[in-house]
Amino acid sequence: MKKVFKSFVFAILLISPTTIHAQTTFTVDTAKPVADIQSTMYGIFYEDINFAADGGLYAEMIKNRSFEFTLPRTGWLEPNTTRTLLNPDSGIMNVIKSGQGANNNFARITVENSDNYKLINEGFRAMGIKKGETYNLTFEARQINGDINKVTATFIDPENDENYGSTTLDIAGGNWDEYSTTINPTQTVMKAQFQLTFEGTGTVDMDMISLFPENTWKDRPKGMRRDLVQLLADMEPGFLRFPGGCIVEGRNLDRRYQWKKTVGPIEEREVLINRWNTEFAHRLTPDYYQSFGLGFFEYFQVSEDIGAEPVPILSAGIACQFNTGEVVPMDELGPYIQDALDLIEFANGDTSTDWGNLRAEMGHPAPFNMKYIGIGNEQWGEVYIERYTAFQEAIKEKYPDIIIVSSVGPFPSGNSFDYAMKELKAMDAELIDEHYYRSPEWFLENADRYDSYDRNGPKIFAGEFAAHNVQTTSPDNANNWYTALTEAAFMTGLERNAEVVHMASYAPLFAHSEGWQWTPNLIWFNNLESFGTPNYYVQKLYSTNRGDKVLSLTVDDEPVIGQNQLYASASLDNENDELILKIANTSSDAQQIIVDLEGSLSVGDVKVITIKSDLEAENSFQEPTKIQPVESSFQADGEKLNLSMDANSFSVIRVTTVAL
Ligand code: AHR
Repeated sequence: MKKVFKSFVFAILLISPTTIHAQTTFTVDTAKPVADIQSTMYGIFYEDINFAADGGLYAEMIKNRSFEFTLPRTGWLEPNTTRTLLNPDSGIMNVIKSGQGANNNFARITVENSDNYKLINEGFRAMGIKKGETYNLTFEARQINGDINKVTATFIDPENDENYGSTTLDIAGGNWDEYSTTINPTQTVMKAQFQLTFEGTGTVDMDMISLFPENTWKDRPKGMRRDLVQLLADMEPGFLRFPGGCIVEGRNLDRRYQWKKTVGPIEEREVLINRWNTEFAHRLTPDYYQSFGLGFFEYFQVSEDIGAEPVPILSAGIACQFNTGEVVPMDELGPYIQDALDLIEFANGDTSTDWGNLRAEMGHPAPFNMKYIGIGNEQWGEVYIERYTAFQEAIKEKYPDIIIVSSVGPFPSGNSFDYAMKELKAMDAELIDEHYYRSPEWFLENADRYDSYDRNGPKIFAGEFAAHNVQTTSPDNANNWYTALTEAAFMTGLERNAEVVHMASYAPLFAHSEGWQWTPNLIWFNNLESFGTPNYYVQKLYSTNRGDKVLSLTVDDEPVIGQNQLYASASLDNENDELILKIANTSSDAQQIIVDLEGSLSVGDVKVITIKSDLEAENSFQEPTKIQPVESSFQADGEKLNLSMDANSFSVIRVTTVAL
């Protein structure tokens, strides 16, 4: 910081001219940074829950494109051949099970009357299509008998068969061939479906019937939804944790997430039932599967795109302990450990290695420079510690620089938490993953959670958190301003303790408005639109105003952890010589705050970014930015700032400072 002559100008910054009910003095020492704030401090937790992958981020529009769901007709409709409207003379789709490889099944379509027969895919709660955009259709097909030589693909309205654009292409030959064409919708429609009709009669086989918007993130063919990735990129996240969450563990071991089955050619990735499919009786989603078109390569790639450190989490050989709790015997743990070692090779290995070579074949010869790997999600008890120990030994022996994330289970306190913490500390665990889905009040009461953590112990990854205003996992939990404000208040405690807390992420990330199982979530979307919740804007404000060093910020020599219902932290942005204050006023009254900039002066413009709202208010598709940060600036020169904080507000204040 620059040295200037001492000045005693008293700056009055009125954030807004509201009634002021109290006055509190904060003291900030800009000259003595307390600790570094890691570049990974604020990041993203991604899990395929709530249709986050298929039907969400992964832009595939056809549900069950390869007929591999347990009920292989799922997603496919034949309007003229249903039980209630049986017309066997029109035609039928059977599913042939070949019993070989990952993609066993294909459709055998016999058309008796081409005027009558239609095969419809309903999409993921239908399909959103946009006029002016192009949709790329691909499929594999072969003729078996008869003279079917044309296939027409049409976007339709399922209610009245209205045609929203179609295309016809020729098919020929008795061998499997790949076909591709495009469809340009004539209208923008939220709930279209996709229909195939046939010219001629006879039998054809079809497989991997796939439809994507051309307009994807980075224009990648068969890629991700641009709007959803953009929302993530806008957060400037320090890391991306994937693929979860409980999905890592599986309800049983057979259904755990196996990264090796999610890389290589898309048609060879084995479809798996999604563990959230029937988890909650109140939100049954029997048509929820994982195609793995969005697999580990794609997660690494998107991490790189958005500048986030990739943080993959792998099975520890323990299925979800809330479900079956199946545990692999210690003497059969070898393949699980090998999966972790091979993943490091896949991400970082030279192209001369087997897995590094696969990464190169998939289009990324350069290493992804993965630095972290997580072993287990919400595991607890001796079974975990025993298995984690074996993983840690093997990984550290081969890759000593990789930082391993370990678990203390699903709860932030209690016997299982204490046991795991003690054991993990004893084995010098580096980064411990804590989860808390708790009431908003818990978040306020725990703003000092990390103040007493050992500075020399393991570092903390606050890997999953969210304020649940009704009850943990209740379907009625809301993404309202109250929950977001309490999270903002709590996070001042994460930032103050950046010496201990190295990573933090809200969870879950995404939810489809009709396909969700869990509330609350950071981002909601339907088949055309998406919006960030107030919680999203809080996370984004933290991430985009992180700072590099924590500063001491006190009231009466104590950290600001709820005195006068205020919560605050301070950091320093070294590059710009800026002091960054984060202040949550959880009082229903406006409050006056004097910030004593001990040892420095503020100069020039002060930027203030504030979110405020009624506590019950939420964003929605109709009002996607009803609650969002609003920016203003003030001129100020002096040793003290006088701020007025609105009722129920969260503000980030950026001040250019110079040392006295
Ligand atoms: O975020 C939803 C779920 O909550 C995660 O899968 C799990 O880790 C936690 O219990």
